Amino acid sequence: MKLMVIGGGGREHAIIRKLRENPEITHIYALPGNGGIAADAVCIPVGARDIDGIVAFAQDNWIDFAVVAPDDPLVLGAVDALEKVGIPCFGPRANAAIIEGSKVFSKNLMKKYGIPTAKYEVFDNAEAALEYIENAPIPTVIKADGLALGKGVIIANTRDEARAAVKNIMEDKVFGASGNSIVIEEFLEGPEVSVLSFTDGKTMIPMVSSMDHKRALDGDCGLNTGGMGTVAPNPYYTADVAAECMEKIFLPTMEAMNSEGRTFKGCLYFGLMITKDGPKVIEYNCRFGDPETQVVLPLLESDLFTIMKAVSEERLGEVEVKFSSGAACCVVMASEGYPAKYDTGFEIKIPNDIDAEVFVAGAKLSDEKLLTSGGRVLGVVKTADTLAEAVDGAYRAVDKVSFDNAFCRRDIGARALAALKN
Ligand code: AMP
Ligand code: GLY
Repeated sequence: MKLMVIGGGGREHAIIRKLRENPEITHIYALPGNGGIAADAVCIPVGARDIDGIVAFAQDNWIDFAVVAPDDPLVLGAVDALEKVGIPCFGPRANAAIIEGSKVFSKNLMKKYGIPTAKYEVFDNAEAALEYIENAPIPTVIKADGLALGKGVIIANTRDEARAAVKNIMEDKVFGASGNSIVIEEFLEGPEVSVLSFTDGKTMIPMVSSMDHKRALDGDCGLNTGGMGTVAPNPYYTADVAAECMEKIFLPTMEAMNSEGRTFKGCLYFGLMITKDGPKVIEYNCRFGDPETQVVLPLLESDLFTIMKAVSEERLGEVEVKFSSGAACCVVMASEGYPAKYDTGFEIKIPNDIDAEVFVAGAKLSDEKLLTSGGRVLGVVKTADTLAEAVDGAYRAVDKVSFDNAFCRRDIGARALAALKN
């Protein structure tokens, strides 16, 4: 069995590591993969947005199954293009990936089907948006409609910041066409929970919950990043919250997408905020989260490929999806300066006897050496019986990995551990 995984970050490394557990899989290709993924898959220099290149590679190499992991190729229709030439895939078609690709679409979907989310208004011209801001409650949240590398959300704490955000997005087009429309929404408060969920449009099976740490610096300070670390499970996601989410959010979303003729098959990511009025959707993603995947998949006890194939064949209800009762912690090691300017090209040293999993995000191979090539370089993941042990073990392993200019947050898991004590 020959598999192809589209993407080249830490998330894809975690997916590939898990897929390798299935003995029927003889080959895994990563397009494009990265220098660290090269230890677990054959990396092919085809970009994740190069849909024609992806389809050509799959056909030329008799690929049996494709996993499309990042948002860009999903929104661009990679699954549609692969299915057209007869290659089964894990991942939603473009008409369902729009749940992440357009915030206007997802907000309107939630309103139409009564799924709890922040109150909002949509604007397609700057003048009307600026007028609305004059009387909007502050803080307010401004979101570019389309994909913006995770940077399209601005929490404005003053009216001036809100005005500037509208101008940047709609007039200066800092996110290009993604800013042709914007959503201005109510600021919500409460702990955040990420829930990744397998769904084939008939069955919805949430994975173990997780908590991301989006800010660059300790104490949730500094700039927003792609994620500096994660823990699973998330202590705020209690059994009661989970039951409420299933009833009011997860199943209604699956059914809403079916009613719209946009059946979602793949991993649907629910970004939730547990407000005093109950859980609300902050965002949907049409894919596995990064770095949530790095803590969720190591806790999966069932076979990932069996689940992915069942999703693609709409038989998810027939397979077992079991998670361990333990915990996991992922600490991201990044290049100093990330998410702004940073230097790369430094050798990464990972001892062979490291007592943790390392998922590589931004590294390349050069003369058999692994060199940093990105902002987020790698994630160090430890699983254990308890969250405290997982966090402790992850940091002990982090201290054994080295490269020049490395930095990481030192408080991944601290908030979750404090919540467990209360
Ligand atoms: P997103 O890119 O949609 O994940 O948003 C980035 C982050 O902005 C989220 O993880 C939240 O922390 C925050 N955020 C987004 N929408 C809201 C909201 N309505 N109220 C408060 N915080 C929000
Ligand atoms: N960690 C957030 C995301 O994957 O969008």
